[in-house]
Amino acid sequence: MFGVCYYPEHWPQAQWEQDAQMMSELGLTYVRIGEFAWSRLEPNPGELDFTWLDQAILTLNNAGLKVVICTPTATPPKWLIDQHPEILPVDPNTGATRGFGSRRHYDFSSVQYLQQSLRITRALALRYGSHNGIVGWQTDNELCCHDTALSGSSNARSAFQAWCSDQYSSIEKLNTDWGNVFWSMEYRDFTEIELPILAVTETSPAHRLAYRRFSSDQVVNYHTLMVAEIRQHAPDQFITHNFIPMNETAVDNFALAAPLDFTSYDNYPLGRTDLMLTGAPADQLRRYMRTGHPDFATYYHDQTRGLLNRGFWVMEQQPGPVNWANNNPRPAPGMIRFWTLEAFAHGADCVCYFRWRQAPFAQEQMHAGLLRPDNSKTEAWPEAQQAMLEVSKLDITNQTTQSASVAIITGVEGLWVSDIEKQGEAYDFNSVQFSYYSALRELGVTVDFISVDADFSPYALIIAPSLPIINSAFVEKCKNSNAEFVFGPRSGAKTSEFGYPTDLPPGLLQTLLPIRVLSVETLREDFAEVLTWNGGQYESCRWREQLDAANTEVIATYHNDEPAIVRSGQFTYLGTLTNRAFLLDFLQQQCEHNGVRTYRFDKDIRVVQRGALMFAFNYSEQPQVLPIAANTQWLLGNATVEPHGIAVWRAIE
Ligand code: GAL
Repeated sequence: MFGVCYYPEHWPQAQWEQDAQMMSELGLTYVRIGEFAWSRLEPNPGELDFTWLDQAILTLNNAGLKVVICTPTATPPKWLIDQHPEILPVDPNTGATRGFGSRRHYDFSSVQYLQQSLRITRALALRYGSHNGIVGWQTDNELCCHDTALSGSSNARSAFQAWCSDQYSSIEKLNTDWGNVFWSMEYRDFTEIELPILAVTETSPAHRLAYRRFSSDQVVNYHTLMVAEIRQHAPDQFITHNFIPMNETAVDNFALAAPLDFTSYDNYPLGRTDLMLTGAPADQLRRYMRTGHPDFATYYHDQTRGLLNRGFWVMEQQPGPVNWANNNPRPAPGMIRFWTLEAFAHGADCVCYFRWRQAPFAQEQMHAGLLRPDNSKTEAWPEAQQAMLEVSKLDITNQTTQSASVAIITGVEGLWVSDIEKQGEAYDFNSVQFSYYSALRELGVTVDFISVDADFSPYALIIAPSLPIINSAFVEKCKNSNAEFVFGPRSGAKTSEFGYPTDLPPGLLQTLLPIRVLSVETLREDFAEVLTWNGGQYESCRWREQLDAANTEVIATYHNDEPAIVRSGQFTYLGTLTNRAFLLDFLQQQCEHNGVRTYRFDKDIRVVQRGALMFAFNYSEQPQVLPIAANTQWLLGNATVEPHGIAVWRAIE
């Protein structure tokens, strides 16, 4: 199914009918509206005006379109900010109040804003909760985007003090858990607790971890109450949220997703590629500047699917150049169709394009839409049309979603730990996690992202690239699982209060692997040393642990023959970060050993299975010939996949 993001409030009412007609002619089913429209829904305090929205919904419904309505809470209007300036968040890095004039200018610790948000949500839900033309809801918009999870406000400070007093039985316990004797940081009372910001040099890591946990809880609480409010008045309509990735929200996306019916993701492959490869050599970026990196879009599709382990929506799909990356190239011809099918192949049930028509005013006037401001159709139009035909011909949305046998354990605490205690500039949670994902994808392996709380039973191989904080329940689950586990360096390296385990890292993991990390060194990105594995030479780099591994099987060694990777039963531990060549060979061996099929196609080919369909996506500028069986039943294309083309065939079980 397909949809589009539309802003009726941006266009004269006289234009709505033609817009709706054209949407329906294009073959769209859904239209998402309203996420920034508070100033039009409530132009003056308490004066709600739904007439224009009623009319917009009616116009869309009359053309056969179904509406997804949003709460407008990402943009509190000026009068509300003037009435209650304490709604504004405070930048924790500078202490400056973040002002009115763009979006997301609110503090998750403002009780006033929570109440105002619930009030406008209730008003909308009462009006549209049983409207036949409304199928569902989007909460807010991209929660925590623009670094808004943390606030350094006085609201946040008092809420943090209350949170601490809930979490720690006494101030003495908090002092001990945070190690506050160090540098005379001890508190006498919860009301003395500061936010760990704006200090002379670094604040205590345990204090910062608590602040991250608290801030995440604030966002989750805000969102959960909003979902409950909608649910109460709209019991038969779905509720979703358009997530940005957990490495950007920096809050617990699993907890945020819990009350939703399904998750959604906003897919901007070129913008993300540009930002992620900012510091990379020019050639690397140039290669993918018009296609996006082969694994960036799906990295987030698979994570979004994993939040609730079910089909998801792409709520916003890039249709052409965006306006917010360092540079904003045009997509290569064919990429809109390509990204659309790719999303479905990775478990999407619906793709909505952002946006209907390019706005000739305000912040995003350089951002493409399906139409230009003069109403002419962009290149995205015929490509979306083609994607619609193909998705329906292949019957993709009736296929079951992925059934992966390999999972990556992810979670926000790993990200927090690596942000708070960098130790080496080249250790970055997201790139460590991405390196495993990308190697698995290059091997054609379908990957699920799971939390530590997930059911492990569907998986043959479970990889934890960066899991520094674990608990004994997790260790028990691993012990009782039949899967093979691979733990990256730093696993189990911190206690839940950001301390060093007394018996040395990997802490609680020692029950599974009898090893001790004696010391850690970090190196510059380009200072790799040799890693010997399976008769071959690879790289050990960036993060290197010295292991006491007397009672394990050593499967790879450092340049000085000391153990680098060890195994005990079903558990493998890597004491070092490595390079792509190693991950490809090592993960291929792990997969094959555990009965998971791998492929070694060209490095720009990605294959993925959804239900009975196998897909190949060619990210390169050359045709690629797939070395697969002659009797393959082709459903789209054939063994020679065109540049930026797609082939689909029937999977053989
Ligand atoms: C998204 C956002 C949209 C729009 C878009 C531009 O992150 O949700 O409102 O700003 O980016 O690419």
